[in-house]
Amino acid sequence: MDLFSRIAKRYDKIIKGFDLSTILDNLTLIHNEVILDLGGGTGRLAVAFEEYVNGCILLDRSFEMINQAKKKSTTIMIVQGVSEALPFRKGSIPQIFANDTLHHIHKQDETIEQCYEILSTSGHLMVREFDPDHWKTRFLIFFEKLLLFGSKFLSPKSLEEICKKYNFTVEWERLTKSTYLLNAKKNSSY
Ligand SMILES: C[S@@+](CC[C@H](N)C(=O)[O-])C[C@H]1O[C@@H](n2cnc3c(N)ncnc32)[C@H](O)[C@@H]1O
Repeated sequence: MDLFSRIAKRYDKIIKGFDLSTILDNLTLIHNEVILDLGGGTGRLAVAFEEYVNGCILLDRSFEMINQAKKKSTTIMIVQGVSEALPFRKGSIPQIFANDTLHHIHKQDETIEQCYEILSTSGHLMVREFDPDHWKTRFLIFFEKLLLFGSKFLSPKSLEEICKKYNFTVEWERLTKSTYLLNAKKNSSY
């Protein structure tokens, strides 16, 4: 059992809250479409999203984490799965958001490629991450190393390069000094 599964019941209390209004203000949400919350964990964002989009699918590999999400909502569609092998039809998902998740994913390249595959034409992938070049993130890197998470933090430039390799058009901005939001729009030919 991985660490997230072991702490699932206490996750929401352990983890520091996030600034939902900053995230929502900066996300380009398509309000009449469904969103995939990739690595959505206990569903703290998915629950909030429900008000702003036309349905939310939460995918996470941890059975224990998604069990917590199930307790929060009966309307979120919850899927146990891994980001590197997404169980959705090609071109079927209009928008994906991954919050504080990509650095926990070991197969990051494959994940970006899979996102491209399942996104519909002009769909977009949004990633909120910690910039490893900022001193605050260094503490997080150290802490996650101690916990043997095996995290791999990508700078916005490195993530941009990976996304471009899979034919995304990329924009990113800083949300705080240590966090960024990257928006990768699917180009139609690949
Ligand atoms: C730090 S938590 C973030 C959860 C949620 N996004 C949030 O903001 O509360 C990272 C999540 O990524 C999930 N995860 C890690 N690797 C994954 C993978 N390859 N596929 C799907 N989920 C994964 C973990 O199970 C965990 O729930």
